[in-house]
Amino acid sequence: MSYTTRRAVVADADGLTALYTDPSVIAGTLQLPFASPQLWKDRLSAPDAPLMLVACTEDGTVVGNAGLHTNLKTPRRMHAASIGMGVMAAHQRKGVGSKLLGALLDLADNWYGLARVELSVYTDNIAAIALYKKFGFEMEGTFRKYSLRAGELTDCYTMARIRARPQ
Ligand SMILES: CC(C)(COP(=O)(O)OP(=O)(O)OC[C@H]1O[C@@H](n2cnc3c(N)ncnc32)[C@H](O)[C@@H]1OP(=O)(O)O)[C@@H](O)C(=O)NCCC(=O)NCCS
Repeated sequence: MSYTTRRAVVADADGLTALYTDPSVIAGTLQLPFASPQLWKDRLSAPDAPLMLVACTEDGTVVGNAGLHTNLKTPRRMHAASIGMGVMAAHQRKGVGSKLLGALLDLADNWYGLARVELSVYTDNIAAIALYKKFGFEMEGTFRKYSLRAGELTDCYTMARIRARPQ
């Protein structure tokens, strides 16, 4: 199967709702169960919405998402952004996450000129940690009892990828 990557639009709200209804995606992220199409519509149409990409199958079904959360209104944090992402269980381990993350990092490096891209990832999320390491992210520390996940306060690693800003 081949996948295309493009900028998310408001019409993707239903597709993103379906993606973030997948239990494995909820477990790996900070999303809540019972995703709401209206919430996704609002997120996608907000003036300060993060830069959102989606990955789609040939028939247009949204199967993956990644977002770059910049800090363009905070002068001392303008060099940094955080990322979040998810790929539907049925489409994991097929290169979709790599495609989305590669596209986001190209934007971060070559179009935003960012020096630092950061993220947090659950300490037991082997797949995501391996993906991030593959793209040059390094461990920086552990946030203990960072997030409530299915009734348990769960630890996260903080990871970042540092690049020289273009001259
Ligand atoms: C993490 C996630 C985005 C990876 O997406 P993906 O489309 O499966 O990733 P890819 O197929 O591009 O895999 C890229 C690399 O990730 C690593 N990886 C992916 N799945 C893995 C797994 N199950 N076990 C170990 N490593 C894995 C490998 O290094 C892989 O490279 P390789 O195939 O050359 O060995 C996906 O598993 C996911 O959405 N998980 C649930 C939500 C989530 O955890 N989001 C991240 C929040 S921090």
